[in-house]
Amino acid sequence: MAIEKVGVVGCGLMGSGIAQVAAQAGCHVIVREVSQPLVDKGLQAIEKNLGRLVEKGKLSAADRDQIRGRLHGTTSLEDLRDRDFVIEAIIEQLPAKKELFLALDQICPRHTIFASNTSSISITEMAVVTKRPDRFVGMHFFNPVPVMQLVEVIRTIATDPKVFDEIVAFAGKLGKTAVRTTDRTGFIVNRLLVPYILDAVRALEEGVASIEDIDNSMKLGCGHPMGPLTLLDFVGLDTTYYISLVMFDEFKEKRFAAPPLLKRMVLAGWNGRKAGRGFYDYSDPANPKPMQLT
Ligand code: CAA
Repeated sequence: MAIEKVGVVGCGLMGSGIAQVAAQAGCHVIVREVSQPLVDKGLQAIEKNLGRLVEKGKLSAADRDQIRGRLHGTTSLEDLRDRDFVIEAIIEQLPAKKELFLALDQICPRHTIFASNTSSISITEMAVVTKRPDRFVGMHFFNPVPVMQLVEVIRTIATDPKVFDEIVAFAGKLGKTAVRTTDRTGFIVNRLLVPYILDAVRALEEGVASIEDIDNSMKLGCGHPMGPLTLLDFVGLDTTYYISLVMFDEFKEKRFAAPPLLKRMVLAGWNGRKAGRGFYDYSDPANPKPMQLT
Protein backbone atom coordinates (compact mmCIF):
# COMPACT_ATOMS: atom_id res chain seq x y z
CA MET A 1 0.00 0.00 0.00
CA ALA A 2 1.43 3.39 -0.97
CA ILE A 3 1.33 5.99 1.78
CA GLU A 4 -0.12 9.12 0.19
CA LYS A 5 -2.34 10.70 2.82
CA VAL A 6 -0.36 11.61 5.92
CA GLY A 7 -1.56 12.98 9.25
CA VAL A 8 0.81 14.67 11.68
CA VAL A 9 -0.38 15.34 15.22
CA GLY A 10 1.57 18.18 16.82
CA CYS A 11 3.03 21.04 14.82
CA GLY A 12 5.91 22.12 17.04
CA LEU A 13 9.57 21.85 16.09
CA MET A 14 9.43 18.14 15.16
CA GLY A 15 5.84 17.95 13.86
CA SER A 16 6.25 20.91 11.52
CA GLY A 17 9.50 19.43 10.19
CA ILE A 18 7.85 16.05 9.56
CA ALA A 19 4.87 17.71 7.86
CA GLN A 20 7.26 19.73 5.68
CA VAL A 21 9.35 16.77 4.48
CA ALA A 22 6.22 14.67 3.84
CA ALA A 23 4.63 17.45 1.74
CA GLN A 24 7.93 17.99 -0.09
CA ALA A 25 7.96 14.26 -0.89
CA GLY A 26 4.56 14.58 -2.61
CA CYS A 27 2.29 13.40 0.22
CA HIS A 28 -0.96 15.14 1.03
CA VAL A 29 -0.52 16.24 4.65
CA ILE A 30 -2.94 17.33 7.35
CA VAL A 31 -1.29 18.59 10.49
CA ARG A 32 -3.28 18.91 13.70
CA GLU A 33 -2.65 21.18 16.67
CA VAL A 34 -4.81 21.85 19.71
CA SER A 35 -5.53 25.51 18.87
CA GLN A 36 -5.62 27.71 15.76
CA PRO A 37 -2.73 29.95 16.93
CA LEU A 38 -0.55 26.81 17.27
CA VAL A 39 -1.63 25.60 13.81
CA ASP A 40 -0.73 29.01 12.39
CA LYS A 41 2.63 29.09 14.18
CA GLY A 42 3.58 25.65 12.83
CA LEU A 43 2.53 26.44 9.27
CA GLN A 44 4.43 29.76 9.44
CA ALA A 45 7.60 27.90 10.47
CA ILE A 46 7.20 25.63 7.42
CA GLU A 47 6.52 28.64 5.20
CA LYS A 48 9.72 30.29 6.45
CA ASN A 49 11.78 27.15 5.77
CA LEU A 50 10.35 26.75 2.28
CA GLY A 51 10.95 30.46 1.62
CA ARG A 52 14.63 30.02 2.57
CA LEU A 53 14.93 27.12 0.12
CA VAL A 54 13.41 29.27 -2.66
CA GLU A 55 15.78 32.17 -1.83
CA LYS A 56 18.76 29.79 -2.04
CA GLY A 57 17.55 28.46 -5.40
CA LYS A 58 17.06 24.95 -3.97
CA LEU A 59 13.31 24.97 -4.63
CA SER A 60 11.34 26.72 -7.39
CA ALA A 61 8.52 29.08 -6.42
CA ALA A 62 6.13 26.85 -8.40
CA ASP A 63 7.19 23.75 -6.42
CA ARG A 64 6.84 25.72 -3.18
CA ASP A 65 3.27 26.59 -4.16
CA GLN A 66 2.48 22.94 -4.89
CA ILE A 67 3.92 21.89 -1.53
CA ARG A 68 1.78 24.54 0.16
CA GLY A 69 -1.25 23.16 -1.67
CA ARG A 70 -0.58 19.70 -0.20
CA LEU A 71 -0.36 20.98 3.39
CA HIS A 72 -3.38 21.73 5.55
CA GLY A 73 -3.73 22.61 9.21
CA THR A 74 -6.60 21.64 11.49
CA THR A 75 -7.58 21.61 15.14
CA SER A 76 -9.85 18.59 14.67
CA LEU A 77 -8.59 15.02 15.05
CA GLU A 78 -11.64 13.88 13.05
CA ASP A 79 -10.04 15.41 9.95
CA LEU A 80 -7.49 12.59 10.05
CA ARG A 81 -10.18 9.97 9.33
CA ASP A 82 -9.02 9.21 5.78
CA ARG A 83 -5.25 9.04 6.41
CA ASP A 84 -3.02 6.13 5.35
CA PHE A 85 -0.48 7.04 8.03
CA VAL A 86 -0.64 9.14 11.19
CA ILE A 87 2.43 10.13 13.18
CA GLU A 88 2.35 11.91 16.53
CA ALA A 89 4.90 14.47 17.66
CA ILE A 90 3.12 15.84 20.71
CA ILE A 91 4.35 16.44 24.25
CA GLU A 92 6.55 13.61 25.66
CA GLN A 93 3.99 12.44 28.22
CA LEU A 94 2.65 8.91 28.13
CA PRO A 95 -0.92 9.71 29.33
CA ALA A 96 -1.33 12.37 26.60
CA LYS A 97 -0.03 9.99 23.94
CA LYS A 98 -2.25 7.11 25.12
CA GLU A 99 -5.30 9.36 25.08
CA LEU A 100 -4.43 10.50 21.55
CA PHE A 101 -3.99 6.98 20.15
CA LEU A 102 -7.18 5.76 21.84
CA ALA A 103 -9.05 8.52 20.01
CA LEU A 104 -7.26 8.00 16.69
CA ASP A 105 -7.99 4.28 16.85
CA GLN A 106 -11.72 5.08 16.87
CA ILE A 107 -11.42 7.68 14.10
CA CYS A 108 -9.09 6.04 11.56
CA PRO A 109 -9.85 3.03 9.37
CA ARG A 110 -8.16 -0.30 9.98
CA HIS A 111 -5.58 0.20 7.22
CA THR A 112 -4.12 3.36 8.81
CA ILE A 113 -0.62 2.85 10.19
CA PHE A 114 0.16 4.67 13.44
CA ALA A 115 3.60 5.95 14.42
CA SER A 116 5.13 7.86 17.27
CA ASN A 117 8.09 10.21 16.95
CA THR A 118 8.92 9.72 20.63
CA SER A 119 12.57 9.70 21.60
CA SER A 120 12.13 7.85 24.89
CA ILE A 121 8.65 6.49 25.58
CA SER A 122 7.98 2.79 24.97
CA ILE A 123 6.32 2.22 21.59
CA THR A 124 4.72 -0.95 22.94
CA GLU A 125 3.01 0.96 25.75
CA MET A 126 1.30 3.22 23.20
CA ALA A 127 0.56 0.46 20.69
CA VAL A 128 -1.35 -1.67 23.20
CA VAL A 129 -4.00 0.99 23.84
CA THR A 130 -5.10 0.54 20.22
CA LYS A 131 -6.72 -2.43 18.49
CA ARG A 132 -3.90 -2.38 15.93
CA PRO A 133 -0.56 -3.01 17.67
CA ASP A 134 0.40 -4.88 14.47
CA ARG A 135 0.11 -1.57 12.56
CA PHE A 136 2.04 0.54 15.04
CA VAL A 137 5.71 1.59 14.82
CA GLY A 138 8.12 4.19 16.10
CA MET A 139 9.47 6.66 13.56
CA HIS A 140 12.06 8.85 15.23
CA PHE A 141 13.25 11.93 13.33
CA PHE A 142 16.11 14.24 14.31
CA ASN A 143 16.24 17.98 14.79
CA PRO A 144 16.29 19.92 12.45
CA VAL A 145 14.07 17.45 10.58
CA PRO A 146 14.50 18.96 7.09
CA VAL A 147 18.30 18.74 7.45
CA MET A 148 19.08 15.55 9.41
CA GLN A 149 19.26 12.48 7.18
CA LEU A 150 18.42 9.80 9.72
CA VAL A 151 15.14 8.22 10.78
CA GLU A 152 15.07 5.41 13.32
CA VAL A 153 12.24 2.98 12.51
CA ILE A 154 11.23 0.99 15.55
CA ARG A 155 9.29 -2.27 15.68
CA THR A 156 7.71 -3.79 18.74
CA ILE A 157 7.24 -7.52 19.26
CA ALA A 158 3.70 -7.01 17.91
CA THR A 159 4.53 -5.01 14.75
CA ASP A 160 3.69 -6.81 11.49
CA PRO A 161 7.01 -7.23 9.60
CA LYS A 162 5.28 -6.01 6.39
CA VAL A 163 4.22 -2.79 8.12
CA PHE A 164 7.78 -2.34 9.41
CA ASP A 165 9.15 -2.74 5.86
CA GLU A 166 6.54 -0.31 4.54
CA ILE A 167 7.62 2.38 6.99
CA VAL A 168 11.31 1.82 6.22
CA ALA A 169 10.42 2.34 2.54
CA PHE A 170 8.32 5.39 3.43
CA ALA A 171 11.31 6.95 5.24
CA GLY A 172 13.22 6.53 1.96
CA LYS A 173 10.41 8.25 0.07
CA LEU A 174 10.82 11.19 2.47
CA GLY A 175 14.47 11.40 1.39
CA LYS A 176 15.76 9.97 4.67
CA THR A 177 17.99 7.03 5.51
CA ALA A 178 16.20 4.58 7.78
CA VAL A 179 17.83 2.42 10.39
CA ARG A 180 15.88 -0.50 11.80
CA THR A 181 15.71 -0.96 15.54
CA THR A 182 13.66 -2.51 18.31
CA ASP A 183 11.62 -1.01 21.13
CA ARG A 184 14.37 -0.44 23.70
CA THR A 185 14.36 2.96 25.40
CA GLY A 186 16.67 5.36 23.57
CA PHE A 187 16.72 3.16 20.45
CA ILE A 188 20.16 3.49 18.79
CA VAL A 189 21.03 7.19 18.76
CA ASN A 190 20.05 8.20 22.28
CA ARG A 191 21.55 5.03 23.73
CA LEU A 192 24.90 6.33 22.45
CA LEU A 193 24.29 10.09 22.50
CA VAL A 194 22.78 10.56 25.96
CA PRO A 195 25.70 9.04 27.98
CA TYR A 196 28.12 11.10 25.84
CA ILE A 197 26.26 14.36 26.52
CA LEU A 198 25.85 13.56 30.22
CA ASP A 199 29.59 12.81 30.43
CA ALA A 200 30.33 16.24 28.97
CA VAL A 201 28.30 17.81 31.81
CA ARG A 202 30.16 15.63 34.34
CA ALA A 203 33.49 16.74 32.83
CA LEU A 204 32.44 20.37 33.31
CA GLU A 205 31.25 19.69 36.89
CA GLU A 206 34.55 18.01 37.73
CA GLY A 207 36.56 20.96 36.43
CA VAL A 208 38.18 19.02 33.57
CA ALA A 209 37.82 22.01 31.21
CA SER A 210 35.70 25.05 30.39
CA ILE A 211 32.43 24.95 28.43
CA GLU A 212 34.12 26.28 25.31
CA ASP A 213 37.08 23.92 25.54
CA ILE A 214 34.84 20.87 26.00
CA ASP A 215 32.83 21.91 22.95
CA ASN A 216 35.88 22.79 20.85
CA SER A 217 37.48 19.45 21.70
CA MET A 218 34.70 17.45 20.09
CA LYS A 219 34.17 19.92 17.23
CA LEU A 220 37.79 20.35 16.24
CA GLY A 221 39.18 17.03 17.49
CA CYS A 222 36.42 14.73 16.27
CA GLY A 223 34.69 16.73 13.54
CA HIS A 224 31.29 16.95 15.26
CA PRO A 225 29.15 19.80 13.89
CA MET A 226 28.42 20.97 17.45
CA GLY A 227 30.19 20.37 20.76
CA PRO A 228 28.20 18.34 23.34
CA LEU A 229 27.17 21.34 25.49
CA THR A 230 26.08 23.36 22.45
CA LEU A 231 24.14 20.30 21.32
CA LEU A 232 22.55 19.99 24.75
CA ASP A 233 21.43 23.63 24.51
CA PHE A 234 20.12 22.90 21.00
CA VAL A 235 18.13 19.77 21.96
CA GLY A 236 16.93 21.34 25.23
CA LEU A 237 18.15 20.57 28.75
CA ASP A 238 14.62 19.68 29.90
CA THR A 239 14.16 17.25 27.00
CA THR A 240 17.53 15.59 27.60
CA TYR A 241 16.97 15.44 31.36
CA TYR A 242 13.62 13.75 30.80
CA ILE A 243 15.14 11.23 28.36
CA SER A 244 17.89 10.43 30.87
CA LEU A 245 15.30 9.81 33.61
CA VAL A 246 13.37 7.40 31.40
CA MET A 247 16.56 5.62 30.29
CA PHE A 248 17.85 5.34 33.85
CA ASP A 249 14.50 3.98 34.94
CA GLU A 250 14.61 1.35 32.18
CA PHE A 251 18.23 0.19 32.48
CA LYS A 252 19.32 1.27 36.01
CA GLU A 253 22.76 2.04 34.59
CA LYS A 254 24.87 4.88 35.93
CA ARG A 255 25.78 6.10 32.45
CA PHE A 256 22.16 7.25 31.98
CA ALA A 257 21.94 9.07 35.35
CA ALA A 258 21.57 12.84 35.07
CA PRO A 259 24.42 14.79 36.71
CA PRO A 260 23.33 17.18 39.50
CA LEU A 261 24.28 20.29 37.46
CA LEU A 262 21.89 19.30 34.66
CA LYS A 263 19.05 18.84 37.15
CA ARG A 264 19.79 22.22 38.81
CA MET A 265 19.80 23.99 35.44
CA VAL A 266 16.47 22.42 34.48
CA LEU A 267 15.05 23.45 37.87
CA ALA A 268 16.20 27.01 37.18
CA GLY A 269 14.55 26.93 33.74
CA TRP A 270 17.88 27.33 31.95
CA ASN A 271 16.78 24.91 29.28
CA GLY A 272 19.10 25.98 26.50
CA ARG A 273 18.69 27.96 23.30
CA LYS A 274 14.86 28.07 23.39
CA ALA A 275 14.98 29.52 26.95
CA GLY A 276 17.63 32.15 26.11
CA ARG A 277 20.22 30.43 28.30
CA GLY A 278 21.69 27.08 29.16
CA PHE A 279 25.40 26.41 28.95
CA TYR A 280 25.53 29.56 26.83
CA ASP A 281 23.75 32.89 27.09
CA TYR A 282 21.81 33.59 23.89
CA SER A 283 20.99 37.30 24.54
CA ASP A 284 22.79 37.86 21.26
CA PRO A 285 21.74 34.67 19.41
CA ALA A 286 24.40 35.09 16.72
CA ASN A 287 27.12 35.27 19.36
CA PRO A 288 26.40 32.95 22.32
CA LYS A 289 28.55 33.52 25.42
CA PRO A 290 29.47 30.69 27.84
CA MET A 291 27.75 30.96 31.22
CA GLN A 292 29.57 30.90 34.56
CA LEU A 293 28.20 27.67 36.07
CA THR A 294 30.85 26.08 38.26
N1 CAA B 1 15.48 24.08 9.59
C1 CAA B 1 15.79 23.92 8.29
N2 CAA B 1 17.06 24.07 7.82
C2 CAA B 1 18.02 24.40 8.69
C3 CAA B 1 17.77 24.57 10.07
C4 CAA B 1 16.43 24.41 10.51
N3 CAA B 1 16.09 24.55 11.79
N4 CAA B 1 18.93 24.89 10.69
C5 CAA B 1 19.89 24.89 9.75
N5 CAA B 1 19.34 24.59 8.54
C6 CAA B 1 20.04 24.47 7.27
C7 CAA B 1 20.62 25.81 6.85
O1 CAA B 1 19.65 26.56 6.12
C8 CAA B 1 21.78 25.37 5.98
O2 CAA B 1 21.30 24.99 4.69
P1 CAA B 1 22.23 25.15 3.37
O3 CAA B 1 23.40 24.22 3.55
O4 CAA B 1 21.30 24.75 2.28
O5 CAA B 1 22.61 26.60 3.34
C9 CAA B 1 22.28 24.10 6.65
O6 CAA B 1 21.18 23.62 7.45
C10 CAA B 1 23.47 24.37 7.56
O7 CAA B 1 23.08 25.37 8.49
P2 CAA B 1 24.02 26.56 8.98
O8 CAA B 1 25.03 26.87 7.92
O9 CAA B 1 23.16 27.66 9.47
O10 CAA B 1 24.72 26.01 10.29
P3 CAA B 1 25.56 24.70 10.51
O11 CAA B 1 26.41 24.36 9.35
O12 CAA B 1 26.17 24.90 11.86
O13 CAA B 1 24.45 23.55 10.63
C11 CAA B 1 23.11 22.17 11.96
C12 CAA B 1 23.43 23.60 11.56
C13 CAA B 1 22.56 21.40 10.75
C14 CAA B 1 22.03 22.23 13.03
C15 CAA B 1 24.43 21.48 12.46
O14 CAA B 1 25.04 22.28 13.45
C16 CAA B 1 24.21 20.11 13.04
O15 CAA B 1 24.09 19.14 12.30
N6 CAA B 1 24.17 20.02 14.39
C17 CAA B 1 23.94 18.76 15.08
C18 CAA B 1 22.44 18.52 15.14
C19 CAA B 1 22.11 17.25 15.81
O16 CAA B 1 22.95 16.51 16.32
N7 CAA B 1 20.81 16.95 15.80
C20 CAA B 1 20.30 15.77 16.48
C21 CAA B 1 19.91 16.15 17.85
S1 CAA B 1 19.31 14.75 18.75
C22 CAA B 1 17.69 14.64 18.31
O17 CAA B 1 17.14 15.43 17.58
C23 CAA B 1 16.91 13.49 18.80
C24 CAA B 1 16.64 13.32 20.21
O18 CAA B 1 15.93 12.41 20.52
C25 CAA B 1 17.19 14.14 21.28
